[in-house]
Amino acid sequence: MADPNETNQAKYTVHRFPAAGQDNPGYARSAAWVHAVSHGFHQHRRNEEFVAKTLASYAVDQRELTGVYVEGDVPQHSVGADVPVATYGTMRKPLNIGFGRQLESNLVTAVTVRGTHRRQGILRGMITADLEGAKDDGLAMAALTASEGTIYGRFGFGVATFERSIKVDTGPRFRVRGPMTGTVEVADPAVLLDIAPQIFERVQRATPGSIGRQEYYRLLASGSIGHDGQPDLAVRSALHYDAKGTVDGYVSYRFKGWDAKPFTMEVVDLVAGNDAAYLDLWRFLGSIDLIDVVTWNEAPVDDPLAWALEDPRCIDSSDVRDMLWLRILDVPAALAARHYPVTSKLVLQVSDTLGLAGGTWEIASDSGSATVRDVAGTDPDLSLDVSDLASIYLGSVSPVTLAAAGRIQVHAPGAAFAAQQLFAVERPAHCLTHF
Ligand SMILES: CC(C)(COP(=O)(O)OP(=O)(O)OC[C@H]1O[C@@H](n2cnc3c(N)ncnc32)[C@H](O)[C@@H]1OP(=O)(O)O)[C@@H](O)C(=O)NCCC(=O)NCCS
Repeated sequence: MADPNETNQAKYTVHRFPAAGQDNPGYARSAAWVHAVSHGFHQHRRNEEFVAKTLASYAVDQRELTGVYVEGDVPQHSVGADVPVATYGTMRKPLNIGFGRQLESNLVTAVTVRGTHRRQGILRGMITADLEGAKDDGLAMAALTASEGTIYGRFGFGVATFERSIKVDTGPRFRVRGPMTGTVEVADPAVLLDIAPQIFERVQRATPGSIGRQEYYRLLASGSIGHDGQPDLAVRSALHYDAKGTVDGYVSYRFKGWDAKPFTMEVVDLVAGNDAAYLDLWRFLGSIDLIDVVTWNEAPVDDPLAWALEDPRCIDSSDVRDMLWLRILDVPAALAARHYPVTSKLVLQVSDTLGLAGGTWEIASDSGSATVRDVAGTDPDLSLDVSDLASIYLGSVSPVTLAAAGRIQVHAPGAAFAAQQLFAVERPAHCLTHF
């Protein structure tokens, strides 16, 4: 249970409760919480249909909702005391931490504090209580995606994966090397309600940085829910079949309309269970008649498409940005969970201003697995903040770069490079799950 900090205790109460669907007691409280989140992110006011569908999917995810409520009366005509002034949601999903290993993680979402109650420590109270609770429950990792880059470092979160927006010119220049390896066929988007989660599961198993998806994604990919809670009839979809006829990838996409030039197809969701499916789906997207450009806002930074295109300049890339932020709650557990591609030994001194996960540990890796020992008092090879350990944990951020930035202190020559090799993963980390 999250508590606001001491100075707020007389003013606010905090409730943490499971997301309740329409037929459940507690629906009104959950609905008020959803309205508060929409307000916090400057979204449209939500109609009942949207709220009901949202909460039905939250219930499937088993989300826990935290609301902070004003104690006593609120000013006449203002939003009622039943609507929380702050919201904070969590759910638990697996994180692929490389070489197929999965680590159950505490996902933090829907963090808002109403503008009229900001900067009084409400977020700090909610997040510290939640991280402590997740650790007490035995979880070694928390994760979130951030609206701003300046908020979460202070709470021990570090950027661990990146993404970018791309515009791909699918005119005559667009040619993907080599032939199709499977086939692509358009499908009724509704079939994705069933098969999207199965296909995503392949991605989850194969991709470092991938996080198990919430219920919302199959609704999004199938066009079952749009921004207003109504089905999004603009969504189209295509499936990829391997040589044996098994579906192993899909793309959902939406035409931006004849008024928007150049004529553009926008990828809603692109999930390929293997490399061949990924390139074939791009071959398909590049072949759609009357379309000049295909856009995708969740593209990997290290993208095989760029190397498969005969003219890589077909890709106009913008807005490379942080995506997944990780927070290690239990350093020895998180380190022991990883597979390491090299045999190595390193002593890491980890600092943590929240006092959750600091200490000095030796990782001794041999043939993949590692022994992690508490070696308090031993001279470290590297000193780093827990947020920087989170950044290097999936191999996407180089400890050498963080040392150059003055974030990691190197005590033993070559230790940053040794850490880079130690934390490397088998393919570039990428996360297709926003939450
Ligand atoms: C971001 C937000 C949740 C912060 O809530 P808050 O209750 O005002 O935060 P707190 O008072 O607990 O502040 C905690 C610390 O974070 C800092 N902080 C809070 N918001 C910040 C921001 N947007 N940028 C930089 N620092 C921020 C505070 O200065 C404070 O620092 P300190 O404790 O080290 O002195 C709130 O401003 C908000 O709802 N913003 C709009 C929605 C949003 O962006 N949510 C985040 C989604 S990922």
